[in-house]
Amino acid sequence: MALVHTGMTMSLDGFVADRRGGTARLSDPAAAGGSEYMDALIRATGAVVMGRRTFAMAEDPDWFVGNYEFQVPIFVLTHTPPPVMPAQDGRLTFTFVTDGIASAIAQAKAAAGDRVVQALGASVVQQVLRAGLADELHVDVAPVLLGEGLRLFDDPDLEGVALEKVGVQEVGGFTSLRFRVVT
Ligand SMILES: NC(=O)c1ccc[n+]([C@@H]2O[C@H](COP(=O)([O-])OP(=O)(O)OC[C@H]3O[C@@H](n4cnc5c(N)ncnc54)[C@H](OP(=O)(O)O)[C@@H]3O)[C@@H](O)[C@H]2O)c1
Repeated sequence: MALVHTGMTMSLDGFVADRRGGTARLSDPAAAGGSEYMDALIRATGAVVMGRRTFAMAEDPDWFVGNYEFQVPIFVLTHTPPPVMPAQDGRLTFTFVTDGIASAIAQAKAAAGDRVVQALGASVVQQVLRAGLADELHVDVAPVLLGEGLRLFDDPDLEGVALEKVGVQEVGGFTSLRFRVVT
């Protein structure tokens, strides 16, 4: 059964997007396509669950096919599916999920087979941690201070989540922190 990994790239002061919603200062070429780190992540990933705002980071929804790093089934959480389905192919498909995080994760696990489900987007990270649906939390810490923006862990209900460190890896200037979620 697929494991669920969740997490994002975060500034040292705890933000996953800057005050304008941008992520440019959080990208590291060493973690980008073609690097050993990203290649391993891509090989391990069998499905993705993302929030609608992360999906909307691509100005053209048809961009995902052939360009997004994970060419796998994608499950987008939303209250309002788009009227027109984005482009899909034999590897990357879209499912817009309107009946909650547990449903999205269950569908993604079924699609991922024995590979990992990546759950992405700040609100999605919070929801899977709160619901006890994540097996691991991965936070890639960028060596930048953003001052303000979108906080990854801005949720008082996360206080009870217990974590056990399982790995620390240097990826270029970034520090990748991996935790097992203890249930
Ligand atoms: N640093 C990084 O690694 C990284 C990676 C990706 C994105 N980002 C940034 O993170 C931000 C996105 O995170 P976010 O927390 O703002 O948004 P998000 O998690 O990507 O999406 C939130 C939206 O998803 C839908 N949604 C979430 N949970 C739902 C549920 N249980 N049922 C129905 N719909 C649900 C809702 O959309 P509807 O309004 O459609 O209902 C909600 O407004 C962006 O600023 C992006 O630039 C950063």
